[in-house]
Amino acid sequence: MTKTKRLFTIVATGAVALSLAACSTATTSGTGSTTAAIADCNVGISMPTRSLERWINDGEGLKTKLEGAGCTVDLQYADNKTDQQISQIQNQVAGGAKILVVAAIDGKVLAPALADAKKQDATVIAYDRLINGTADVDYYATFDNYKVGQLQGQFIEKELGLKDGKGPFNLEPFAGSPDDNNAKFFFSGAWDVLLPYVTSGQLVVPSGKAPKTNDAWTTIGIQGWASDKAQAEMDNRLSSFYGNGAKVNVVLSPNDSLAVGIEASLKSAGYTAGTDYPIITGQDADKANVKAILAGTQSMTVWKDTRTLGAQVFTMIQSIAAGTTVEVNDTKTYDNGKKVVPSYLLAPEVVTKDLVQTKLIDSGFIKASDVGL
Ligand code: GAL
Repeated sequence: MTKTKRLFTIVATGAVALSLAACSTATTSGTGSTTAAIADCNVGISMPTRSLERWINDGEGLKTKLEGAGCTVDLQYADNKTDQQISQIQNQVAGGAKILVVAAIDGKVLAPALADAKKQDATVIAYDRLINGTADVDYYATFDNYKVGQLQGQFIEKELGLKDGKGPFNLEPFAGSPDDNNAKFFFSGAWDVLLPYVTSGQLVVPSGKAPKTNDAWTTIGIQGWASDKAQAEMDNRLSSFYGNGAKVNVVLSPNDSLAVGIEASLKSAGYTAGTDYPIITGQDADKANVKAILAGTQSMTVWKDTRTLGAQVFTMIQSIAAGTTVEVNDTKTYDNGKKVVPSYLLAPEVVTKDLVQTKLIDSGFIKASDVGL
């Protein structure tokens, strides 16, 4: 082969490789990183509400990633109204969405909407919260919800020295929204750690609001995860059961939005950060609560890096679009009443004051300026 011919071949091969690269990595996202294009990708994302910080991060984060890969994305928020979520999902399906990513407000009311989606051959991914009572949900991506509660229970157990027989301490437990499938897992994880100490008397619940079993969790559930409802409930408990100078020593708050209300109630009852301020748990690492942790009016939060959840769902969508096997790591835990939904569980982590910098700020989850640092 003559020299010129060999040269041409190399150039030619080079050119082909370049053009191939051009068509496969079609897009360059705002961050300059290239993302493999997903062909034929039309995704409807349905988030429960904008009123809680994390769902804005979840929705916007996933939308940006998918659009970076050339997908058509319809992102909707449902103001915690189930009817609104149902009609939004129906509109997304009518609008041609072939993949639905749904963080359900109430996982028990979406079966009809998903049946419609199935008629259009749409693939459904339950996002963070399981969808119940239907076989029309294909995959579930979330954090290990039972572990979230367990971490909160173990934090209280350690901080109070319960394993060493310490006590009695006054505990006030709360649970999440009764329509949220996650809330029972959060509560069960925590209560499996704490109930034995309630039974032994090391933990006392002056309000009497201590469910006898995990299944009774909704008796202390706060509808819609609403801060103002949690505040009102804590006001009521403090005025009704702590009039005799008794002090609250620990509050099991399943997430940060409830913790905000509980902390406001304690503040108006005269509790201030310092030695006899109660232990308060949380979840989500919301900015306001990270500030409270730095100020000593909240003890911890269970951090769930929602960017990793978005990335996992993105990977699922890539596989679905390519018709390849969708990676899951749990095919046992999440029985929705019609089927055990193949799931991918991510690991939650505890964040306390001394971990804010390394876990939340250095990782870019929040900025130092967001929390006054
Ligand atoms: C749960 C979610 C938590 C918290 C809560 C309130 O389902 O897993 O992270 O955000 O809802 O939105």
